[in-house]
Amino acid sequence: MKNELTIVSGLILGLIIAISPDMARTEVKRGDLLIIYSGSTLGELKPCGCDKEEDQGGIERRMGYLKTVRSSTKNTLLVDTGDGFKAPTKQGKLKAEYLMKSMVNMKYDAVTLGDKDMVYGNKFIGEMKNIPWVSSNIELKGSSLPKYIIKNYEDGLKVVIVTAADPHLFYTKDSSDIKVRGPLEVLNKLIDELKEKEKPHLIVLLSHMKKEQGIKLLDVEGVNIVINGHIEDEEDIIDMKPVIKNGKVFVQPGPRGQKMGELKVTFDSDGKISFTHQMVKLDSHVKFDPEMVELYDKYNQKIEALFFASLAAKRKNKNSKVFATETTCAGCHPDEHKVWSESRHGRAYNTLVKVNKSFDPECLICHTVGFDKPGGFVSEIDTPNLKNVQCEVCHGSGIKHAESPQPGFGKKAKDACKMCHVKNHSPKFNFNDYWPKIRH
Ligand code: HEC
Ligand code: HEC
Ligand code: HEC
Ligand code: HEC
Repeated sequence: MKNELTIVSGLILGLIIAISPDMARTEVKRGDLLIIYSGSTLGELKPCGCDKEEDQGGIERRMGYLKTVRSSTKNTLLVDTGDGFKAPTKQGKLKAEYLMKSMVNMKYDAVTLGDKDMVYGNKFIGEMKNIPWVSSNIELKGSSLPKYIIKNYEDGLKVVIVTAADPHLFYTKDSSDIKVRGPLEVLNKLIDELKEKEKPHLIVLLSHMKKEQGIKLLDVEGVNIVINGHIEDEEDIIDMKPVIKNGKVFVQPGPRGQKMGELKVTFDSDGKISFTHQMVKLDSHVKFDPEMVELYDKYNQKIEALFFASLAAKRKNKNSKVFATETTCAGCHPDEHKVWSESRHGRAYNTLVKVNKSFDPECLICHTVGFDKPGGFVSEIDTPNLKNVQCEVCHGSGIKHAESPQPGFGKKAKDACKMCHVKNHSPKFNFNDYWPKIRH
C-alpha cells in the first residue's frame, strides 16, 4: 500500500532516489516507512520569539506536527540523534527534564546519546526510564543501555536501529563511569549478528559525530541509512542536504529543534529501496499541541518560582550602586532620552511582560540593564529603574559622568550591540541598518 504524506509546512531540500543493490529480501508486502528525525535540540523547549525568521521549533509545535503526520501515515519511525541538553545549570537541567517528558509523550522509537547529554551525569540518563535510549558503543556505569532497537510493523516490515558515537567527543579519560568503544568494530560485529538473527528489511544507524566522519559510516556493510547529529556550538550552521552513496543515504537534523527531518523509504516489489527527503520547518504554520502547551506552562511556572526564590538571597547582599539610570541621563540629555524612550530599547522589558517571561533569567539578560551583575537588574519590585535596554548598557556606567560631565564619555557604545544582537536573536543585525533606527 502507498501512503500519502501530508506536508504540514514544507521546506523541500531535495528529492532523491537511490537504489540499493544488495537488498534482496524475503517477500513481504510492505508499505512505505516515514522516518522522522530530530537532534541537537539543546534544551530549546520553545523559541524566544526575538526574531520572526528564527521563530521555529519548540515542543508545542513538534507535537502538533507529529500528530498531524501520524494521523495520515501508517508506518513511522521517530528517532533523535542526541545533544538534547545544553547547559550544566539548574535551569538547563529543568529544561532537560521537560524535554524528556515531552519526548516520552511524543513516543519516540529511539534516542541516542550525544556528548552534551552527559552534562548531568549517568544517573540523570538512567532516571529517564521511559526514554528509548539506545547506544551500540557507549556503556554507562549504573545503567544498561540497549545496543540496538528492533521495530516490527503490522505489515511485516522489520527495522533495526543501531548507533555509533565518536569516542573523541566524550570525556572518558580517567572516568570509569562512561566507556565509548570504537564504533566500527562494534558495528561490524553487531550488524552481522543482527542480520543473521533478525533478518531486518532496513538498518538505520544513528550516529553522533562530525559530519565528515558520519558520512564514512555509509561504507558500513548492511547499513541503509545514516542519521547523524552533533553540534559544537548553538550558532553552528548545519548542512542539512542529504548525501547519497551506493544507494544509501546520509542525513542530519538542523539545530535547536527548529525543523524536523522526514525521510520516506519506499520498497518496491524487487526489494529495491528508494528515498524521498525533506526538512519541515516548525514555524507559525504549525499548530501548538494543547498537551504540550500545558507542559510548557508547568516549566514556566517552575522558572517563575525559582526566580522568586532567588530574590531573597539577592536582596541580602544588596550591592553598591553601579548605574545612574536613564532618568538621571534624561536631566541633561533630554533629546537623546526622547529618541531612546520611543525606540524599542525603551520598552524591551514590557515585551517580556507581554509574553509572560519577565521572570526568566534567559530573557532578562538582554532585555534589562546588567541582570545578574553587581548593581544590575534584580526584579521589577527591587530595581524598577533598571528595566529595558538603557543608555548605560551601551555607554557604560555613567555615575561619575553624571557628577562631573566630560566630553568623550561612552564613546565605545558602538561595540555594545553585539552583546545582544547575536545570530539566534537578531539574525538580520547590521550596524549600518540598525543604528539609523535608534540614532540620537
Ligand atoms: C542575546 C540577547 C537576547 C536574549 C537572551 C533574549 N532576547 Fe529577545 N530580543 C533580543 C534582540 C536583540 C531583539 C531584537 C531583534 C531584532 O529586531 O533584530 C529581541 C526581540 C524580542 C522580541 C520581539 C519584540 C517585538 O516587538 O517584535 C520578543 C518577543 C523577545 N525578544 C522575547 C524574548 C524572550 C521571551 C526571551 C527569553 C526566552 C528573550 N527575548 C531573550 C535579544 C535577546
Ligand atoms: C543601544 C545602545 C545605546 C543606547 C541604549 C543609548 N545610546 Fe547613546 N549612543 C549610542 C551610540 C552607538 C552612539 C554613537 C557614538 C559614536 O559616535 O560612536 C551614541 C551617542 C550618544 C551621544 C552623543 C551624541 C553626539 O552627538 O555625539 C549621547 C549624548 C548619547 N548617546 C546619550 C544617550 C542617552 C542619554 C541614552 C539613554 C537615554 C543613550 N544614549 C542610549 C548607543 C546607545
Ligand atoms: C549633569 C548633566 C549630565 C548628566 C546627568 C549626564 N550627562 Fe552626559 N554629558 C553632559 C555634558 C555636559 C556632556 C559634554 C557635552 C560636550 O561638551 O560635548 C555630556 C556628554 C555625554 C556624551 C557624549 C560624549 C561626547 O564627547 O560626545 C554621552 C555619550 C553622554 N554624555 C551620555 C550620558 C549618559 C548615558 C548619561 C546617564 C548615565 C549622562 N550622559 C548623564 C552632561 C550630563
Ligand atoms: C542589552 C542588549 C542590547 C544591546 C547591547 C543592544 N540592543 Fe538593540 N535591542 C535589544 C532588544 C532586547 C531589542 C528588542 C526590544 C523589544 O522590542 O522588546 C532590541 C532592538 C533593537 C532595534 C529595533 C529593531 C527593529 O527592527 O525595530 C534596533 C534598531 C537596535 N536594537 C539597535 C541596536 C544597536 C545599533 C545597538 C548597539 C549600538 C544595540 N541595539 C545594542 C537589545 C540590545
